[in-house]
Amino acid sequence: MSFVTLDQVIKYAVEREEAAFQLYTKAAGMSTDIAAKAAGMSTDIAAKKMFQEMAAEEAGHKQVFGKMDQEKANKYKDTTIPDMKIGKYLVDVPMKPNMTYQEILTFAIKAEEHAYQLYTMAADATADPDLQKILRVFADVEKGHKIKVETLYDEHVLTEN
Ligand SMILES: [Fe+2]
Ligand SMILES: [Fe+2]
Repeated sequence: MSFVTLDQVIKYAVEREEAAFQLYTKAAGMSTDIAAKAAGMSTDIAAKKMFQEMAAEEAGHKQVFGKMDQEKANKYKDTTIPDMKIGKYLVDVPMKPNMTYQEILTFAIKAEEHAYQLYTMAADATADPDLQKILRVFADVEKGHKIKVETLYDEHVLTEN
């Protein structure tokens, strides 16, 4: 059986958090475009604000993981997680260029589920109480993101169709 080390998970997380930041920054911009077209302005302005807040949270996560990456990489090299358990959450969901708003929402829901699973498994794997706490808090935040995007998706799909 092959294993993934915790420092590999953290390095992957830095990239994933950057991608999430980019995605929500883009979604925030698109929310404004939609607001210009749609009658329900307040919802779209709320969506823009929500995406901006989530983008800021992802940037914060990236910063925390980025620091760990440099300072503690060696310490986490010995902590392993079976590849068969965590492997599917370490694979990037391919992001298409020129995604529609609806495609971005669908993509984000899946990416947030992956992030939640990844951080939960990493938290279970480590005995380091500080790292475990960070991972559990981040897992909760990603779960919250998923719920927010799902709610928006439901509203958006119901409004559009
Ligand atoms: Fe995040
Ligand atoms: Fe997230």
